Amino acid sequence: MDTTLIRNDFPILHQNVNGKPLVYLDNTATTQKPQVVIDRISDYYETINSNAHRGTHTLGRIATEKLESARTTVQKFINAKEQHEIIFTKGTTEGINLVAQTFAQQFLNEGDSVLISAMEHHANIVPWQQMCKQKKANLLVIPVLETGDLDLSNIDELFSKNVKMLAVTHISNVLGTINPIELLIEKAHAKNIPVLIDAAQSVAHETIDVQKMDCDFLVFSAHKMYAPMGIGVLYGKSEWLNKLPPYQFGGEMISEVRFEESTFNELPYKFETGTPNVDGILAIETAIQYMQKIGLKQIADYEHKLLTYATEKLNEIDDIIFHGTAKNKIAVLSFNLKDVHHSDVGVILDQLGIAVRTGDHCAQPLMRILGISGTVRASFAFYNTKEEIDVFIEGVKTAKKMLQ
Ligand code: ALA
Repeated sequence: MDTTLIRNDFPILHQNVNGKPLVYLDNTATTQKPQVVIDRISDYYETINSNAHRGTHTLGRIATEKLESARTTVQKFINAKEQHEIIFTKGTTEGINLVAQTFAQQFLNEGDSVLISAMEHHANIVPWQQMCKQKKANLLVIPVLETGDLDLSNIDELFSKNVKMLAVTHISNVLGTINPIELLIEKAHAKNIPVLIDAAQSVAHETIDVQKMDCDFLVFSAHKMYAPMGIGVLYGKSEWLNKLPPYQFGGEMISEVRFEESTFNELPYKFETGTPNVDGILAIETAIQYMQKIGLKQIADYEHKLLTYATEKLNEIDDIIFHGTAKNKIAVLSFNLKDVHHSDVGVILDQLGIAVRTGDHCAQPLMRILGISGTVRASFAFYNTKEEIDVFIEGVKTAKKMLQ
């Protein structure tokens, strides 16, 4: 991998922030966009812009064809069996809400349980919690160990508690832990329990094969994989998507509408009402092609090297407390400096042009378990360099000197 060439593809990286060259280490919150993705969006508005799946004029037909071709690209990217198993959403959060609300409506009853893990993002807690409240069902939680691994010691007992759905993150946005989801899926399926995987943090860092994984639902956001915000994907096995009722009602998701009654469209349109985000969908396709050109394996290997280097360097600083030291993790480093507030570290790093995220990372229950209010989180992408990590480490040393 030639990082210099790769960095040239990302215009945003070449600027000063607060008078210093930008060091962007907040890739878990959102990734930057390569020029080809930006161009795909402007090209769409310069040459095609029309409403897809509506009307017969030429531009509208081209928009429709391109949208459906992008759906096929996504299908192949995650190795879904059918093209109609790919539903375009606003992002991970909408995908989870769609499944939680429609699944609960159809399949969740009083006394049932939904099983999640202690390291979930709020987006994979609150939708299930609210559905459990409505249905008088229970929300059960797989505990987490201090290392940042899931504690699976009582997993069989948890599964025996009338569980109707397992919803779990593939990779923690706070700890970077890669969870053993294939094992969890196998155990859930042995009890006929469907599984939803939150792949928001994995889709740009791991190869996803939904058939091999055998998950029933999988959700992700485009903006965490070098494509724009406001667009994402819900994958569902046909048999499950067909069993769920529609989520939102309106144009295109219908088959026939009368004032008295309506019938609904087939997959995937049953779940895609309203004008689609065509430019966002085309941009996902370009982002996938861009990542594939570099190679998912090459990306993962390179980011792992960055993680090892950054962990070693940070470890040399006294009073660093790491949060998340699982063996199997992606390039996310969450930490605190002893007796220092995480946001103070973030402010000083920002003054040095270094962008990290601080706070609870939308995982307040996990923070409570760890006994902290938040962390400083540096997260790396394939356009980051060892030199940037050196700048970041110097920044942490400066913060330590100023704050401790
Ligand atoms: N979920 C994103 C993060 O972890 C926003 O920062």
